[in-house]
Amino acid sequence: MAETRNPLKTRRKTEINCCVKEIRAMISSNGVTPPTLAEVRARLLELSTHQDLFNTEIFPVQNGDNTSSLYLLSEDDKHEYALYAFSETKGNMTPPHDHTTWAVIAGIEGEELNKFYRRLDNGENEGQAKICESHSEIVGAGTGVTLMPADIHSIHCLINQPTLNFHLYGRSIEHLPQRKAFNMTDGTYKHFSANPNIYK
Ligand SMILES: [Fe+2]
Repeated sequence: MAETRNPLKTRRKTEINCCVKEIRAMISSNGVTPPTLAEVRARLLELSTHQDLFNTEIFPVQNGDNTSSLYLLSEDDKHEYALYAFSETKGNMTPPHDHTTWAVIAGIEGEELNKFYRRLDNGENEGQAKICESHSEIVGAGTGVTLMPADIHSIHCLINQPTLNFHLYGRSIEHLPQRKAFNMTDGTYKHFSANPNIYK
């Protein structure tokens, strides 16, 4: 259907554009710092209150995607300010990983457990890394977490309820080839690539 004939789609695009424009202004003025990212989180949580525009019926886990689906909502022409809707169901989880860019997650529906880790080694041995869990937070409607580029987290969807979050990255995950996924038991890490199946 043509965009002009779909008022919901048009309104969603307008709200997304407005939100990203304001977030870009925050980062441009104040730089990438934890306080700025907290402001970004608040703005994303404001966007998440538009439940008619962002919900698990519009952004479901797609058939064939196992336990999660990723939708690209917006990015600029340099693949920066990449905003995604991340949909997941019980059992979805990731290993501990970093992003190599700033990231903000804001809850819309359901619950996602975020575990955070501290790196204990000095990074001098390529492929080796010692990490330990430092704390955890639940992301649900009205809450979110922020990550600086080197911060490490893992996500876990543990509840029997469709879960939807915004994920906003300083740069599109398709353009972050140096992200590291950590194996805590072995004390190693590997670079990993983006999920090849991103809905656009
Ligand atoms: Fe992540």
